Amino acid sequence: MSTAKLTLNGKEYELPVIVGSENEVGIDVQQLRAKSGAITYDPGYGNTGACQSAITFIDGDQGILRYRGYPIEQLATQASFVEVCFLLIYGHLPNHNELTNFESELTRHTLLHEDMKKFFEGYPRGAHPMAQLASMIISLSTYYPESESELDLNIIRLIAKIKTLAAFAYKKSIGQPYIYPRNDMSYVADFMHMLFAVPSENYQVNEVVERALNLLLILHADHEQNCSTSTVRMVGSSQADLFASIGAGVCALWGPLHGGANQEVIEMLQMIQDDGANYKKYVDKAKDKNSDFKLFGFGHRVYKNFDPRATILKKSTDEVLHALGMSDPLLEIAKNLEEVALKDPYFVERKLYPNVDFYSGIIYRAIGIPTNMFTVMFALGRLPGWIAHWREMRSDKASRINRPRQVYTGATVRDYQSVFERK
Ligand code: CMC
Repeated sequence: MSTAKLTLNGKEYELPVIVGSENEVGIDVQQLRAKSGAITYDPGYGNTGACQSAITFIDGDQGILRYRGYPIEQLATQASFVEVCFLLIYGHLPNHNELTNFESELTRHTLLHEDMKKFFEGYPRGAHPMAQLASMIISLSTYYPESESELDLNIIRLIAKIKTLAAFAYKKSIGQPYIYPRNDMSYVADFMHMLFAVPSENYQVNEVVERALNLLLILHADHEQNCSTSTVRMVGSSQADLFASIGAGVCALWGPLHGGANQEVIEMLQMIQDDGANYKKYVDKAKDKNSDFKLFGFGHRVYKNFDPRATILKKSTDEVLHALGMSDPLLEIAKNLEEVALKDPYFVERKLYPNVDFYSGIIYRAIGIPTNMFTVMFALGRLPGWIAHWREMRSDKASRINRPRQVYTGATVRDYQSVFERK
């Protein structure tokens, strides 16, 4: 095994080096503090490996994304979302029997306990579905407390029920009656039915829409140690249960710099359209250091060439709109923004490219998903990734409670004074 050498205050320290299956190199600093008294400093963890993981591989310079070794381009065009869930969580593609059993289990656990409807009733009208989703997922642990023998069953329950929770949250937000899950429909079709059906009408699931949603969910299914997945691992590292850990992940995803960006993108495109579609003005604004404005859907911590998910989505956006016989002025603005930004030295130098959130919202809009549900859709897609990481962490002998260090910069020791003595 090779080692790395670090010189600190004239003293040399030898540090072990680990190499991953794709030749990624990590310097193991676990003993650094014990030996030298120093810690590593890395705000935002941009250069810190917090675990070893066999789930997802990303090469940000080459624009490569693989789940369990399978290229995203193959999974996106050939697999079903349920297959991808199985793959991520259990490590291999299911054979025919495994897939049939998994699908049937997912179908049989979609119902929510009837009492849970009372929780939805308590939320104010217009409550953001992400807030409802996070708290409902955590509430599941009150019905299904953790037990070692039911771990796999709770995983099934969560994947099966998240779409019912998401659909109920939406129905609550628009004041329509809840539509119950159907056992004769596929995972994606059942979700759409719960979302869009109304009791008095016969809702038919459009195949183009079903395929588009399947693709979107697959593209979001995992992305190694992103903010929400790291949150799931962070919370889970204290041995908090599955529902608590995933609920925390949903909260982390909601932020506009992470999954919340898909809602921000559409609101931004709408704002540009309302302002006369002058997209160049907004590219200039994004470059202006005196302005807080940024181009949502642009930039990524890891991808410095292109985001392969965005490439797939851009193509699919055209296909879906064409198949549905629709056009969307926001798509034109998005394409123009992309074209201008990709030629602009500010974006080129900083390697800022459209990310997965840039085009996803236009497909969601085309298939009738309301803007405040966009991040919920991301959560549905990311769920198998969160579960896979939570499960991997649980069985990893090297896993410990996550507890970063800090470099303290506050006051040095001083004596307490009573309030009458204070100046
Ligand atoms: N528009 C304008 N400037 C940007 C943007 C943007 N979207 N993104 C980054 N920059 C600039 C940033 O100001 C900085 O400039 P300078 O070096 O002059 O200070 C430079 O590019 C590097 O950016 P950073 O903020 O240090 O990069 P980061 O790795 O910390 O942040 C990011 C990554 C995704 C949070 C950021 O690019 C961003 O805020 N993008 C917009 C939000 C967004 O689309 N998020 C979705 C991410 S993909 C889906 C997901 O996994 O959640």
